[in-house]
Formats: sequence, C-alpha cells, structure tokens
Amino acid sequence: MSIFFDREKCLVTLNTRNTSYQMVKGEFGHLLHTYYGGKCDGDMSYLISYIDRGFSPNPNEAAYERTYSLDLLPQEYSGFGAGDFRSPSLIVENGEGASAVDLKIKDIRVLDGIKYSIPGLPSSYANPGERVDTLMVALEDEIIGLRAELYYAVFEETDVITRTVCLINKGGEVLTVNKAASMTLDLMQDEYGVTHFRGRYGKERMREDIQLGHGSVVLGSRRGISSHQENPFFILTRGEVTETAGECYGVSLVYSGDFKNEIEKCPYNSVRIVSGISDEQFSMELAPGEDFWTPEAVMSFSENGFEALSDSFHRHVRKNICRGPYKESRRPVLINNWEATYFNFTGEKLKNIARKAGELGVELFVLDDGWFGKRESDTTGLGDWFVNEEKLQGSLKDVADTIRSYGMKFGLWLEPEMVSEDSDLYREHPDYAFAIPGREPVRGRHQLLLDFSRQEVVDHIFSQIAKVLDETGVDYLKIDMNRSINEVYTRCGRTQNRGLVLHRYVLGMYDFLGRLLERYPDIMIEGCCGGGGRVDLGMLCYVPQIWCSDNTDAIERLEIQYGTSFGYPMSTVGAHVSIVPNHQTGRVTPIETRAAVALAGGFGFELDLNLLSDEETDKVRGFIEDYKKDWRLIQQGRYYRLTNPAERRIFAAWEYAADDLSEAIVGIVCVSTQYNQPPEYIRLRGLDAKGRYYCEQTGLSYSGAALMKGGISVPEFRKGEYSSCLMRFVKKY
Ligand code: DGJ
Repeated sequence: MSIFFDREKCLVTLNTRNTSYQMVKGEFGHLLHTYYGGKCDGDMSYLISYIDRGFSPNPNEAAYERTYSLDLLPQEYSGFGAGDFRSPSLIVENGEGASAVDLKIKDIRVLDGIKYSIPGLPSSYANPGERVDTLMVALEDEIIGLRAELYYAVFEETDVITRTVCLINKGGEVLTVNKAASMTLDLMQDEYGVTHFRGRYGKERMREDIQLGHGSVVLGSRRGISSHQENPFFILTRGEVTETAGECYGVSLVYSGDFKNEIEKCPYNSVRIVSGISDEQFSMELAPGEDFWTPEAVMSFSENGFEALSDSFHRHVRKNICRGPYKESRRPVLINNWEATYFNFTGEKLKNIARKAGELGVELFVLDDGWFGKRESDTTGLGDWFVNEEKLQGSLKDVADTIRSYGMKFGLWLEPEMVSEDSDLYREHPDYAFAIPGREPVRGRHQLLLDFSRQEVVDHIFSQIAKVLDETGVDYLKIDMNRSINEVYTRCGRTQNRGLVLHRYVLGMYDFLGRLLERYPDIMIEGCCGGGGRVDLGMLCYVPQIWCSDNTDAIERLEIQYGTSFGYPMSTVGAHVSIVPNHQTGRVTPIETRAAVALAGGFGFELDLNLLSDEETDKVRGFIEDYKKDWRLIQQGRYYRLTNPAERRIFAAWEYAADDLSEAIVGIVCVSTQYNQPPEYIRLRGLDAKGRYYCEQTGLSYSGAALMKGGISVPEFRKGEYSSCLMRFVKKY
C-alpha cells in the first residue's frame, strides 16, 4: 500500500520507496499541501503556518478569522478569484464572464492497484504484476458547477508520482476554461533554484542553473512543439545541489505541444510550481456534462542530488513510459544515409552504402528524406507519399529487398505533419494546411503545416503512408517534424474552440502514431524533430528512441547528451558516428571519439562507410562488436555524469554501471589539451566497494572502494585534442 488515507483527519499520504507526499483538508474544505520530500511519518500539517497578513484576503466563511487566507496556504490545485493572487492552476469563466473558482473537497478515493489512464493522451502505465495505486481527490466549486478530479498515481519503486486533472462541467451553463494546469506544488520557504534545459536548433538541452529571486521564472514553449528552445523537464533545487548531494525535485510533462512551467517565489518566500499546457493559445468551452483531461505530469524527489533524481526518471521512462517490442530488447545498429547523401542519391548509391555497412555488421539501413514525390530539395514534395521510382531506379520494395539480402533490416524516413506548396497534395487540398484567412502563411524550412487537428487530414496522410508501408514492408520508421507551428487556425469551418486547435493538433499527431503502432506493432519508430525539438515523455510513449540532435559533432554532442541525460535515459538518445570534417562545425575528431560518444546512446552511423580508410574500417567493425557486447549496459545500466562538459575542463567523462555492480564502462574525451598539465583524476561511481575490479585498458585490478574514493588517473592525452578512451571495469570477485 502506497496511499494512506486518514479519514478522521482527512489527511492523505503518498509514499514511494524514498519519498513522501502529503495533503490535508483545510478548515474550510480546501485541499492543502503539507509536505513533499524525503520519506516521513505522521501528520505534517503542523508545518502550515496561519498568520494574519495584510492584503491577503480571507474566505467569507472564515468570518473574522484573518489567519486563513488562500493567498498564503499551500494548495494542491488553486482556483482564481477566491483570494489567492499567486499563479493559479485553473482559470474558468462562467456565462456571466466572471472568473472566480473556489475549489473544495467533495470526495476522496483510493483506487488500489489501478493506474488511471487519460482518454486521447499518452501517460505512464503499470507493467503486469507491478502495483500502482491511484488517489483521486474530487474538488468542486458548486456555484459554477465545476468539478476538478485530481489524480495521483504512485510508482513506489521508482520514487515517481504522476498527476493529471479531469475537469467536468456539472452545472447547467457553458464554462470557458482559459487555463488548466496539470499540477501545482506549493513548497515551504527555502533558498530554491531552478535547473532547466534550454537551447536552440542543433544545441538542445543546455543545462542552465538559475537562483530563484522573488517573482516568477516562466519556462515554456509557444512553438506548438515541446521545442529545441526549452525542454518540458526541469529541476527545482533546494540549497546547493551536486550530482551526489542535496535535495531536488524533477517535473516532466507527458506532452509534446505548447507548455508552461511557472516557478514562483512568493512574497513570504514559499515557492509555487505550476506546470501544464500553456494558457497563451489555449481556451475551451466546456458544455454541461463535458470533461477535459490535462496531460500527465511526472514528479520525483531526491535527497541525494541530481544523480538519484535522474535515475528515478531513467527507470520510470524505461519501464513505465516506453513500450513496444524495443522497450527492452537490443536496438539494431543502424546506418542512415542523410549526411552521406542528403537529397542526392539513386537506388544504386543507397545500395552501395548499405552493402558496405552490412559487411561490417550494421543491422538496419534507414532511407532518409528524398525518396518520395518530387523531393530533390527541401522546397518540394512533402505530403506526396508515393515512391519516386525514377530516382530509386526501381520500386522501394526492390531497394528494401536488396538491402535485406545484405542481412539488414530496412527503415524509412517520414514527415507526416507537413506539406510543401509545390506538391500534389497542396494543389488538391490547400485547405489541409494551417493558414489564417487573409494572411499569407509564414514558411519554415519552405514548408507549411498540415492541420492535424482535423481527423480527415490525419486519415488522408495515414492511408497514403500505410499504402507505402504495406507494399514495401518496413522494419523501422524515423518520424520527423521540421518547423514550429505558426498559424494556429483551423480552416475546417468550426467556429468554436479555436483556442483548442494546438492541443487538438497534438492529439491528432498522437492518434497518428498510435494508429501506426497498432497496425504495425513490430516496427520500431524513432522520433525526430529537426533533431531534438520534440524530446519529451509524450513522444516517448510512442517511440523508444529520439534522434537527439542534428548536431553530430562529437564534442558538441558531449554537452547535448549531458543535458539530455538529466531527464531522459540514454536508451532514448539516438547517436551516430558521422564523417569529418563534421558537417555542422567543421571539426575533425578521431573516429574512436565519434564512436565513444555515439556508443553512449542508441548507436548508429550517418556516413558512407566506403569512404573510410582500411584502418578506420577495421575500427568500425570493432565498435559494432563492442555495441553488441555492451548494449545491455548502455540501454539498461545506471548512467553517471562524471563531469559537466560545459565547465570545459581538460576532459569530459561519463560512466555506465550494471545494476548488479558487476561491470562498468567509463568514457573519457579530451576536450582541450595542455602542455605540462597537472595530473587529473576521475572517481567512479556505482561499484561494489568491497569487490575487486579488473580494468582491461590499464591491465590493473583495483578495489571498488579505491575506484570510487581514490579514482583513476585520466590517461595522458598526448595523442592530442579530442582523443578519447573507453575503459571497462569487470568485477572479478
Ligand atoms: C531533420 C532531421 O533531424 C535530419 O536527421 C534529417 O532527417 C532531415 N530532417 C531530413 O530532411
């Protein structure tokens, strides 16, 4: 049992292995938050202080009691217009145009052994045999007839609590919902900071630490996608937090569209987190009897620093978010032709690349952009999902069959949500694209967006694509998306719910992915959005792996993969060895270093292996063998960030360690060489202190304690900048 409901006190405690979360009924029926942190017993409501503060109003029912103010009390889900001036969870307008919501507890239920699900939206799930309990607290504002059912699911093992809210109109008039957050968390006063993962195209998820001052830090996306610019995962730090020490909270939305994460330091130094769909382009009419579900938010807490927090998210994502046949099985080593050819290929050229790759042990060939319609550049052809047989010198099935004859699987690139103006689809159905009447649409990568909020548009694209997949037989799909959403306007003639178009677009995209998986359950799908523009838990409910960034430079990738690893396991990170000079930066790095960095994720290649020297070719064979040997450690092992590459020391390092402590691999890359440099050491983590480990590279054996407390000295990188090594430690006894 992970949920304890003390009916007498109306106090509910959610317990995971290492954390406790608690809420209680306030004197006037509000749902107050008492505690979230390390595991604790007992009633924590003594932590709530009741003090009379000027300009913090009191509910009418409190009469002359001035110490009860919603402006000050920690709450689970706050209304608006009832005396709380902090950022609300909910803004709802009634037929009169009044926006007051005062939510009081109506019902509390513990759903033993049940994980809620959310209609139309992806969410975490319980595995067979895994017990997950759900708490449902129903809050109501009886005056406007609004019910808000708050759901909390407790994943005991991984220290994760997930949340969602279902709004139901129980009244007799239409309500307009202008904001509906997935969660609110009010924490007592302390020195808090925020670690978030910002970026831009090709430079995604750069860690940034902010000390919280009074007022709000607002992180989010208004691009229609979760975005390269701001990831929907962030961390609230309490005091100083390092990898191994300090308290921190992680929040991640299971959503791939616009979002808003507000972190507000309030006048009396408490902190409020409000996380959910962005309210900026959101508004919906909720008719009597209708309901609306918010996306799921995933929370975790660690009192042992970032490493333990990441580990909780990693395990949760691997076990309770990702699904399908590739959830746990080994991902095939792939080769993708994008950087090898861009649009400039023929069937023969592709087969040449594939033949060589197959000889070296690569298991999957991915045909990227350019195989369909009249797609010779990024200006044309999107939306025309029929095979360009002239370019391929035959059918797609011929190409796929030839590749299979090399002992490889066949994969295909798609960008279903897009249309080029120069395409048959656009000529036939211009109304399928988003556009605002009277305005010329804004182009992104020369292309327009299909209105996936409309079922008929999704159906049309799905049936075109299904035809190709049925004819060809495909083992893998890379689903791309290459622009932000600008025109948020559906041309389907509906006059209502314009403020829901973006959300419906996201639902349409999920519906498309869900249908693909249903019809082709054995296909592995890799997500992509110009690289890492849609790295979020919503996508990961459909795809076990996401192409992490279009930036394949091994040195730049160190920082991108480092930032990504805070909220996402490396099993979800697609990483490829590409050619040098690198196409994005012009940097030249040794092939060992490109492989070492790519071997930290879903391993693959993105170059023509025919162009390598014999020596490099032999090495490639070795890297592939290494991956086939070590995949379990990489996909399922515990990941440790041994350095922060942004701090630009002499080297960057990371480690994988087996859960049973039997082995570990340490990756080290020299990021800048120095003459006469002082000795450098790395301390390993996650080993058996009493065990004895042999290192193949040094030929020495060490005790686990020595490796973790004393460390190893970093090899001298005399071979120059960007050299690297992978060191393997195997426990002998
Ligand atoms: C953007 C992706 O991130 C690339 O890997 C490649 O697939 C191109 N799109 C193709 O247009």
